[in-house]
Amino acid sequence: MNGPNRQILLDTRPKGRLTRRHFSVASGDIPEPGPDEVLCRTILLSVDPANRAWMEGVSYRAQIAEGQVMAGYGVCEVLTDGNERVAAGALVLGEPGWQEYAALPVRSLRRIERRSALTHHLSVLGPTGLTAYFGLLEVGRPQSGETVVVSAAAGATGSVAGQIAKIKGARVVGIAGSDEKVQLLRQRLGFDAAVSHRSPTLEEDLRAACPDGVDVYFDNVGGQVLETILPLMNVHGRVVCCGAVSQYEKGPVAQTTVTKGVPGLLIMQRLRMEGILLLDFVKRFRVAESELAGWLQDGRLVALEDVCDGLETAPDALIGLLRGDNVGKRMVRVGPDPEPG
Ligand SMILES: NC(=O)c1ccc[n+]([C@@H]2O[C@H](COP(=O)([O-])OP(=O)(O)OC[C@H]3O[C@@H](n4cnc5c(N)ncnc54)[C@H](OP(=O)(O)O)[C@@H]3O)[C@@H](O)[C@H]2O)c1
Repeated sequence: MNGPNRQILLDTRPKGRLTRRHFSVASGDIPEPGPDEVLCRTILLSVDPANRAWMEGVSYRAQIAEGQVMAGYGVCEVLTDGNERVAAGALVLGEPGWQEYAALPVRSLRRIERRSALTHHLSVLGPTGLTAYFGLLEVGRPQSGETVVVSAAAGATGSVAGQIAKIKGARVVGIAGSDEKVQLLRQRLGFDAAVSHRSPTLEEDLRAACPDGVDVYFDNVGGQVLETILPLMNVHGRVVCCGAVSQYEKGPVAQTTVTKGVPGLLIMQRLRMEGILLLDFVKRFRVAESELAGWLQDGRLVALEDVCDGLETAPDALIGLLRGDNVGKRMVRVGPDPEPG
C-alpha cells in the first residue's frame, strides 16, 4: 500500500529488549468509516510502558499482532459525523494506533471537554493523571503526616501521585533513575526527599529518607525496588500496585514477577497490597478531572510533559521510555491542534 496515511507497524514481537528493528514505516489508505464508526485524525499519541506489556500478552487486553499498525491511544479530531455525542470537529480520546488516520467505533471514544492545553488531556487530566488520582486516593488512602513513597516518581503517573500526596499533607519521598530527576522532584515538585534506584546503597538511602518508616508505597515498577521497600513498611501500610515496568521486557507480567517478602512481610506487618486498574473508575472520571484541573489551575499541581515531534519518532520514544529517558508524560505529536473556533 502506498497511500497518504503514514503508519508505524509492529513487524515482529520482541523477545527481550525492544529495538527499532521491531518496527517499520508504512503508508496506507485513509480508511472509510463503517456503520457506527467515525474517521479520526491523530493529534497526539500517548507513549506508555503498557505498549510494551501488550506485546507480551497475558494482560488486560489482547496481544498486539505482528505486521499490524502498532497499538496505542491518543487524542484525535473527529472528521466525520457519528452521532449527537461525537460529531465532526469533536476532540476525543481513543485508540487510533500509530498512524495518522483511523476509523474508530463511536462507542470506543471518550469525548474531551477541553479545559486547558490539549497535552494536559494526556498528562495530568488524562489516563496517567487519573490512575495516579484513583490509585493514591482509593487504594493508598494517605493520611496527613504519613510517609508516602512513589517509584518512577519523575514519570507521568508517579509525578502526579507524589504531588497529590503532598496536597493531602503527606511526607513524600520519590524514587527515580538519575540525579537530575532526583533534583527535579525536590526542587520543582516540592517532594520532601528523593533517591535514585540506581544508587548502590538504595536501601540505606531509603531508610534515611523515611525515618518514620513507609505508610503508603505507590509502586510503578515492581521487581527489586518493591522488594527493597517492603521491609520498610509500617504496620497496616498500603502498597498500591499500579505497574511493574521493570518486568515488562522479561515476559508476560502476569507470569513473571515473583516478589521476595510476599506473603511473609504482608502477614507480619498486616500490609494491604492492592492492584489498581484505571478502567474500573470510568464512571468517576469527570469528578476526578475537575479536581485535578482545579489543582492545575491554582498551581498546586505541575504538569510534567515530554513531547516528541513527529509520528516517525514513536518507536524511539517508546524504547527510550523503557530506559527512563522521559521526564513526565511522554507523548508524540502526530499532527497540529485543530484551528480554534
Ligand atoms: N494500572 C493502571 O491502570 C495503569 C495506568 C497507567 C500506567 N500504569 C503503570 O504505571 C507505571 C508508570 O507508567 P507511566 O505511563 O507513568 O510511565 P512513566 O513513569 O512516565 O515512564 C516509565 C518510567 O519507568 C522507570 N523505569 C523503567 N525501568 C525501570 C526499572 N527497571 N526500575 C525502576 N524504574 C524503571 C523510568 O524512570 P526512571 O528514570 O526513574 O528509571 C521511566 O521513566 C507503569 O508501570 C505503567 O504500566 C498503570
